Amino acid sequence: PAPTPTPAPAFNFKPVAKSLADMVVLPAGYSASVLYAVGDPLFPGVLPYRNNGTDTDFERRAGDHHDGMEYFGLNAAGTARDDQGSERGLLGMNHENITEVFLHANGPSLIGGVRPLEEVNREIAAHGVSVVEVQKTAGRFRVNAASRYNRRITPQTPVEVAGPARGSALLRSTYSPDGLRARGTLNNCATGQTPWGTLLTCEENWAGYFARAAGDNLRRDANQIESMKRYGLSEGSNGSRWHTPSVEDAYLRFDIAVKGGSFDGSDDYRNEANTFGYVVEIDPYDPNAVPRKRTALGRFAHEAAVCPRPVAGQPVVFYMGDDARNEYIYKFVSKALWEPSDAARGGMAVGDKYLNEGTLYAARFNADGTGEWLPLTLTNPAIAAYTRYRFQSLADIVVNARLAADAAGATKMDRPEWCAINPHNNEVYYTLTNNSTRTLATLDAANPRAYQDQKGSSTQNGNVNGHIIRTRENGDHPAATAFRWDVYLFAAEAGAEAGRINLSGLTADNDMSSPDGVWFSRKTGVLWVQTDDGAYTDVSNCMMLAALPGRVGDGGAVVVESVSGSEKRSVTTYKGKNPTVDTLRRFLVGPKGCEITGCAETPDGRTLFVNIQHPGESTRAADLNDPSRWESHWPDGGNSRPRSATIAIVRDDGGTIAVS
Ligand code: FEO
Ligand code: CA
Ligand code: CA
Ligand code: CA
Repeated sequence: PAPTPTPAPAFNFKPVAKSLADMVVLPAGYSASVLYAVGDPLFPGVLPYRNNGTDTDFERRAGDHHDGMEYFGLNAAGTARDDQGSERGLLGMNHENITEVFLHANGPSLIGGVRPLEEVNREIAAHGVSVVEVQKTAGRFRVNAASRYNRRITPQTPVEVAGPARGSALLRSTYSPDGLRARGTLNNCATGQTPWGTLLTCEENWAGYFARAAGDNLRRDANQIESMKRYGLSEGSNGSRWHTPSVEDAYLRFDIAVKGGSFDGSDDYRNEANTFGYVVEIDPYDPNAVPRKRTALGRFAHEAAVCPRPVAGQPVVFYMGDDARNEYIYKFVSKALWEPSDAARGGMAVGDKYLNEGTLYAARFNADGTGEWLPLTLTNPAIAAYTRYRFQSLADIVVNARLAADAAGATKMDRPEWCAINPHNNEVYYTLTNNSTRTLATLDAANPRAYQDQKGSSTQNGNVNGHIIRTRENGDHPAATAFRWDVYLFAAEAGAEAGRINLSGLTADNDMSSPDGVWFSRKTGVLWVQTDDGAYTDVSNCMMLAALPGRVGDGGAVVVESVSGSEKRSVTTYKGKNPTVDTLRRFLVGPKGCEITGCAETPDGRTLFVNIQHPGESTRAADLNDPSRWESHWPDGGNSRPRSATIAIVRDDGGTIAVS
């Protein structure tokens, strides 16, 4: 007899309405508490956060702009790793950026082109990563500020360079003339977790922190000029001005202009930007382990790095997106084959085994629903023959992965943000958050929508609301070099034109814009979708939705017709199976001015951690003396400055989140 099909799980909550309130809105029967907010003490003896712009010890407090995070279980005594530990664990968390206006007493200042050292120190230390122990007492998670695991990693923390670029001339610096080490991590966006229990933190918009004088190209060779252009390291940029206090090279390095003649390793920071843009591995269980930049996974605006459950005797693979307009989706396939005993062994030595050697690929999406993984190697003929940039070595390829993917012919995507693995079948979901430069002339099957959205005096163009694409490897083999794909969902306002903009038939219960975070619960199989939206903020603050998304093939075909010649035009037809309120519904709406990002869960599925990033960020420094004009006061209310924070969400009856 045919097996009885497993009934699809059903949501255990009613969809919440869109909201413009300065609060976290949740379904009836759910509640949230603030767990870990910017400035919260992370070590014994640190004074309570004053939140008035005068605190100076962010190396010992929660950083700002909480972003991607991962949960790592501990046993009940807190003495050892326990992957099923749901009462006690570590959150490895990114602090992507800062809200400058609220970080300083009177907002950021600039005196004669120089930033005050005190402000620069505060800004640097408020970036990076936290490892913070959280513990459930009386049914509620709280931070354990006395934990021996607690740690802050900032842009000044010593790190090791690992993988093909280790020791490369491209990474030599005054700090490490042999190119083996570097300083810190920067603009850490989303995360990943390895099968051996370490954190992967991904460096995204690092390029914007570097100053580079006009005319610097005159002192650089053709390859360097091409590389800097491709990575957005523009001539004439002031960057963060973290170099301007001019006290020592830990600061001066943020000005990367060539100062002397040939590189002598003593007074020059020309390669500093080559030490950022990586996936960085951190062992949350060992506060003394030096973080390692895993250069084999390429250098770009990394968003996330996610790994399906590995299979004994097969390579370990990581999927990644490069979040910038018209950038690529990547996959890394390890050379070493998975040995299951490495999962429990854990630690950075296992990371060295799987993350230093392997093949980096970029994705090409074909119009017929197939796709290919293009190897970024010196033996790829398209890379060997490339003339815009001359690749000398594998180090050169990983450091300039964007140029290698250009050469290989990868598909330019609508800003790849997070990716997530469906734990039931290893299909990979990628958010393509939006792309203001997509035009009818540049549509392709995987990026098939461009339109104009007029809201009052503001006009947005391109793929305004974003979509979610998903892939299934051929033969369900993670190391396959070909895959099938479809579009799971086109984000849109419910009232937008059906058949042209609202292609997925979204309704008031599940409409959204600019999907960014995506994360699967291994316990419940729910796909969480989080938004970082600039197109839709007159209608709702950013939000999080729960999805039961089906499989590749359910989404159906996207047809783009192009008429060649100067009359080029494109038509999009989508014949997918639309999500309904039974398979996609809104679960949470955040406070004013925030982005919802970061998602992690206890292994029992009963506590969900979510990050509220930059509430109130559009507040003007000129309004700092009038709290009534601030965009948000979340989470402390009254006249308080708003704070990025992690919240812990539970069902009031103690049940599993979203589905029972
Ligand atoms: Fe930091 Fe692409 O979001
Ligand atoms: Ca993001
Ligand atoms: Ca975003
Ligand atoms: Ca952000």
